[in-house]
Amino acid sequence: MAVILSVLQHSSCPQNIVFHFVTSAAANVSFLHATISSSFPYLNFQIYPFDDASVSRLISTSIRSALDCPLNYARSYLANLLPLCVTRVVYLDSDLILVDDIAKLAATPLGDNSVLAAPQYCNASFTSYFTTTFWSNPSLYLTFANRKPCYFNTGVMVMDLDRWRNGDYTTKIEEWMEIQKQMRIYELGSLPPFLLVFAGNIVPVDHRWNQHGLGGDNFRGLCRNLHPGPVSLLHWSGKGKPWARLDANRPCPLDALWAPYDLLQTPFVLDS
Ligand SMILES: *[C@@H]1O[C@H](CO)[C@@H](O)[C@H](O)[C@H]1NC(C)=O
Ligand SMILES: *[C@@H]1O[C@H](CO)[C@@H](O)[C@H](O)[C@H]1NC(C)=O
Repeated sequence: MAVILSVLQHSSCPQNIVFHFVTSAAANVSFLHATISSSFPYLNFQIYPFDDASVSRLISTSIRSALDCPLNYARSYLANLLPLCVTRVVYLDSDLILVDDIAKLAATPLGDNSVLAAPQYCNASFTSYFTTTFWSNPSLYLTFANRKPCYFNTGVMVMDLDRWRNGDYTTKIEEWMEIQKQMRIYELGSLPPFLLVFAGNIVPVDHRWNQHGLGGDNFRGLCRNLHPGPVSLLHWSGKGKPWARLDANRPCPLDALWAPYDLLQTPFVLDS
């Protein structure tokens, strides 16, 4: 709900935005529909139940159990879940807020054949996202031959769903998850298969669109600062979440930027 509110508040034309929500198959869709509509009466949205049975058999345990939730993998299935007439989406995690117009991000040119655009981080140690098992096996690591792979965060992505469908990238991601089941080639959850398939072939987006890591490190959730430079999107990736820290009365300084978007705390008026 905080994401939705932040997107609407910073959009110059909110009536042009269509939201697509993916939910667990067990969720009561009419209840969700009623809840969202009562907070955002004019929101143009659809809800797609995600049958997690298909992906559950492919999930191997990661170093952080929250990453093992099947819904974390739903982003790999958007091309199948959403109707064919939806040809481009901006994927957003639920632990972030926009402070800029999402239309600018959505308009990122994808060139002649890129499937994804996202902020990428070529200074990050790319090798650390995979195990020595991976880096000692040429039949695995040579997947990166002829590419200059860089880390990118899968919490914010512009996705061309037509190109995704044509290239059957869901199957390519699943193939890496099958390999992970056989031999441990990475430690995190849904992110590494994206890196395996797309790193080096994405369109880089300005870092302002993913000020990530505000949740803190993956083990203890220590407070983090903003990265230098402008900010269009704040992302509490990492272990700590602002709603939990605010509820526990132990917020990090930057959690104060999330708080105004918390509909459970803040009465709000959305300009029409
Ligand atoms: C689902 O939610 C609707 C609307 O709140 C409610 O009327 C219905 O009883 C719920 N169904 C189940 C199976 O809980
Ligand atoms: C990446 O590293 C280079 C060399 O250490 C440095 O000059 C540059 O500012 C770094 N870029 C970012 C985005 O951190």
